Amino acid sequence: MKIVKVKDYEEMSRKAAEIVAERMNAIENPVIGLATGSTPEGMYEILIDKYNKGEIDFANTTTFNLDEYVGITDDDPNSYHYFMDKHLFDHVNIQKEKTHVPSGMADDLDRECREYEEAIKAAGNIDLQLLGIGNNGHIGFNEPGTPVDSRTHIIGLKEETIQANARFFDSIDEVPTKAITMGIGTILDSKEILMIISGENKRDAVTSLLKGTISEDIPASALHNHPNATVIIDEAAWGDNE
Ligand code: F6R
Repeated sequence: MKIVKVKDYEEMSRKAAEIVAERMNAIENPVIGLATGSTPEGMYEILIDKYNKGEIDFANTTTFNLDEYVGITDDDPNSYHYFMDKHLFDHVNIQKEKTHVPSGMADDLDRECREYEEAIKAAGNIDLQLLGIGNNGHIGFNEPGTPVDSRTHIIGLKEETIQANARFFDSIDEVPTKAITMGIGTILDSKEILMIISGENKRDAVTSLLKGTISEDIPASALHNHPNATVIIDEAAWGDNE
């Protein structure tokens, strides 16, 4: 696992966007795995800027998002479908049919999970998967305790995740309690992984990750087993770690 320490959110976003842009330009039909949340917003802004300057082109890019809440519609402002349109897809020349966000509204959610896995395989697997990290070490919505070989599945969200995500909703009661997420095994199948971490509230997660112990209690620790994973961490998230 390669660690890159940066000054702040802005530098993290810029470095991450540079890596994504480089891969998009180097790979003929890139397959990029995307994340939502506060952490990647700045990186998406820079990618849009690079697109506007003609430095990158999304026409041949396929995307797969990590996760989505169960039970909220695509047009709900809190859905990850809506987030992706707002923060990236509506601003670049990506072909909508090449974007994939799992559906948390499918009648048959188990089938949706199987089909999501099949679609990733059919696309030739993910070239570069972006990840954030939850305060409790989750990746995607793989909460502590999720097996490392898990595939796309439905998961009950932990109380701490519901609380962390309540900031986006009018009240905590509106936060969905379930989500559909790529499994840890699905994520580890990506050819390259790029995790970005910013802010003081991620310090405990960073400390657990840097300890190097691989444990189901810290889902992000599975990255230690990946041959090509980079983690960009800003000073606020780094804290007292050596
Ligand atoms: C989002 C996702 C989550 C977030 C994590 C951190 O698609 O998969 O694992 O990356 O919850 O969220 P933020 O960036 O909002 O702190």
